[in-house]
Amino acid sequence: MKLQSGHEVVPLEGSEKEKQLKDFQGYKDGLIRLMPGRWLLAPGFQNFADRIYNFQHKKSDVVVMTWPKFGTTWTQEIVWTMMNSPNLDHPDSNLPILTRSPFIENDIFAPALKPGEVPLSNDPFYVAFKKVCPNRNPADGVHLQLVEEFPDPRLIKTHLPFSLVSPTLLDTCKVIYVARNPKDVIVSFHHHSRILKLHDYVGSFEDFVQYFVNDDLIYGPYWLHLKEAWERKNHKNLHFIFYEDLKANPLGEIKKLNAFLNTKLTDAQLDGIVKYTSFKEMRARDNGPVFNFEHKGVKVEALNAEVVKKDGGFFRKGESGDWKNKFTNEMDAKANQWLQKNLNNLDLEFKYEIECRKNGKI
Ligand code: A3P
Repeated sequence: MKLQSGHEVVPLEGSEKEKQLKDFQGYKDGLIRLMPGRWLLAPGFQNFADRIYNFQHKKSDVVVMTWPKFGTTWTQEIVWTMMNSPNLDHPDSNLPILTRSPFIENDIFAPALKPGEVPLSNDPFYVAFKKVCPNRNPADGVHLQLVEEFPDPRLIKTHLPFSLVSPTLLDTCKVIYVARNPKDVIVSFHHHSRILKLHDYVGSFEDFVQYFVNDDLIYGPYWLHLKEAWERKNHKNLHFIFYEDLKANPLGEIKKLNAFLNTKLTDAQLDGIVKYTSFKEMRARDNGPVFNFEHKGVKVEALNAEVVKKDGGFFRKGESGDWKNKFTNEMDAKANQWLQKNLNNLDLEFKYEIECRKNGKI
């Protein structure tokens, strides 16, 4: 199958498919690769790829583009609050973030609905869908249609790289790209893949590191995703944020966002948003992208309760440099090799690379 982006779809086969299925028990329908790029995605992507590629963005859209675990939710919460609730008084602010800032390709992970079938009535996404697009058929994509019909200005999340989204995206609207130290991403993604039943990773941490350096994690390759964005960094509609900078100086970074988005918030409003979007406050509100809900008295759980109890939920630690507590020397060497091979030749002032250079590590 050929997509309008020019990519050929190649389903994972043989021993590679078996290994993925054994380690990621949530990938029951297998995975697909898109060539060129070796992008690894859920098979449901094929049903939505061309619609996403041809999506009509508006000038007022703001897109938060990231690879998983780059700090997407944090950035969405900051930007949503700047755009909609600068005085922290919007009545919808406690709703799950993906119902306020929809995730354009999230339908690729949902099991396809049979004709006439509807999602569970208490599913917060479906509640938002019914409110925003009451006359649409959910089988055509709950999330994609939510984005299509969402009132302006829309704040849209994607984990897709530039090569799989609309080629006119950057010329049409503003894009915020968040990047994060790959070693912390490995730690965070490993946790995420264990807590979320969608992935249900049951393999070892060591193997997870290997998956990462082989570019064999869903949405991978990380480096190509980052490279495609970095090559566009001088475009006036693209704003780059590093998780490490946001963590070290949230007010400074939010001030830059204020200028980029032209939101014209006052210093007092910006101070309020820094506090409101701190890790402590966001974890206490716990209205991130992953949730459980009840339907007719039955609990529908997206999370592996046991892992959450033992190792924490979506808002895990919210720190830079936690990899130092988790990596063995061997894992560190593997990640450094990967970094040198894939990111060293970019004109990329990547935080981790700089740190390594200072320490004489690479
Ligand atoms: P950790 O697992 O290292 O804690 P994403 O939203 O892209 O999935 O990224 C999730 C990561 O961002 C998790 O990292 C999560 O805890 C962290 N995060 C979420 N909100 C945050 C906040 N307000 N401040 C700092 N980190 C935050």
